[in-house]
Amino acid sequence: MELSRRIRGVSPSATLTITSKAKAMKKQGIDVVSFGAGEPDFDTPQYIKVAAAEAIEKGKTKYTPSIGTVELREAICEKLSDFNGLEYRPEDIVVSNGAKHTLYNIFQAICDEGDEVIVASPYWVSYTEMVKLSGARPVIVPTLPDEGFKMKPEDLSAALSKKTKAVIINSPSNPTGCVYSRDELKAISDIALKGNIRVIADEIYERLIYDGQEHFSFAALGQEVKDITILVNGVSKTYSMTGWRIGYLASSDREMTKSIKNLQDHSSSNPSSISQEAAMAALTKEDGSVEKMKKEFEARRDYMVERIAKIGQFSCVKPGGAFYCFVDVSQVNKDSLEFAGKLLDDAKVAVIPGEGFGTPGYIRLSFATSMENIEKGFDRIEEWLKQ
Ligand SMILES: Cc1ncc(COP(=O)(O)O)c(C=O)c1O
Repeated sequence: MELSRRIRGVSPSATLTITSKAKAMKKQGIDVVSFGAGEPDFDTPQYIKVAAAEAIEKGKTKYTPSIGTVELREAICEKLSDFNGLEYRPEDIVVSNGAKHTLYNIFQAICDEGDEVIVASPYWVSYTEMVKLSGARPVIVPTLPDEGFKMKPEDLSAALSKKTKAVIINSPSNPTGCVYSRDELKAISDIALKGNIRVIADEIYERLIYDGQEHFSFAALGQEVKDITILVNGVSKTYSMTGWRIGYLASSDREMTKSIKNLQDHSSSNPSSISQEAAMAALTKEDGSVEKMKKEFEARRDYMVERIAKIGQFSCVKPGGAFYCFVDVSQVNKDSLEFAGKLLDDAKVAVIPGEGFGTPGYIRLSFATSMENIEKGFDRIEEWLKQ
């Protein structure tokens, strides 16, 4: 029997496909080096785990409001004020099962059949599929390595149409690690304001930013910009809490936040009450773990970039944030799906092909794995390329 047209239009996640194949090989006892991870390899900090255990002990194991407890939403507001210089009220916050769920809900709330959402490529694999699931059409704006993989305002302007509902800005970006400067964001915001569209600012990697750079939040560009921005964030990447599933949005558009509350009321209900308590601890009682993880990521990035540069046939723009190197392998093979498949089968190294990010000829290498693994993986890649 046929499935819905909507669901048939969704592609499988390129990242999950390759990582599950690598996991299956590992299970068979094959020594695979995986650069596929989309999550920090560190344990969740102890103080967060303790908060979760205490939540269970205290019986915080029941339904909460579907958009999250007031206490967690207050803690998020405090974090947004202290860290991002943004003033929101708890009513402006919706907590969901991870930022992925948050984004899914946003597209459901703002898009109708035939609408358009502008996405810069290379893009995070799920944006386009989530947009499609809402009935809208992703409009892809390609970016270039020479321009740091950042969307140019004139390209955004050219992509606008009467059907455009929103543009997604992901800084720092997955998969390229590019970080937009304040001025670059300002130029984008001018076009968005003129075009009367929303900006979905996915800032999930905001704390993983290197070379002494500071994250600049899109909504901090002023009241007018804040009014059109839907800020998306979560605890997954910053606190190594990917399995806890807590993400959130902040927006002063009350009609939209209310509509997402209704959607969650009738679909997921609240995210785990225990995870909410853990997230509250993460946001309010930092113990230095985040800075430690960031330092380690930065050292690994430097090493990985060095190893990439040594391979003459590879090139990559040094990522300013997140934990990925997006590597041009087109000199070896323009079909990076085939490249990644062969690399996994022959050299036992798992990488994510660029096709899933809308950019064939590239692979994404995650440095959310130990220095030892990075060294071993690159030794294998070098050997394999020689053959
Ligand atoms: C750019 C980007 N946004 C959002 C997410 C979703 O994160 P989560 O659902 O774990 O909060 C991810 C995860 O890989 C991501 O890379």
